[in-house]
Amino acid sequence: MRVRVCMGSSCHLKGSYQIVEKLLQLKERGLNLDISGSLCFGKCSEGICVEIDGQIHTNVTVEKLEQILGVKTCH
Ligand code: FES
Repeated sequence: MRVRVCMGSSCHLKGSYQIVEKLLQLKERGLNLDISGSLCFGKCSEGICVEIDGQIHTNVTVEKLEQILGVKTCH
């Protein structure tokens, strides 16, 4: 899966680094992820924004990310 995490300041302030950490963790555990950063998606008020295989997801949390990716991990 191709995943692009918004690196814009609004998403950063909302904790996009937590999303990046979780993605790296999942990749380490064997999930096939191509992770990169992106400039602002223009949906700052709906951040954190993450694009997965071309589709932009808004208001992403670690829990929502796991749902989208279809994985469940212990916190
Ligand atoms: S800062 Fe993330 S959408 Fe604008």
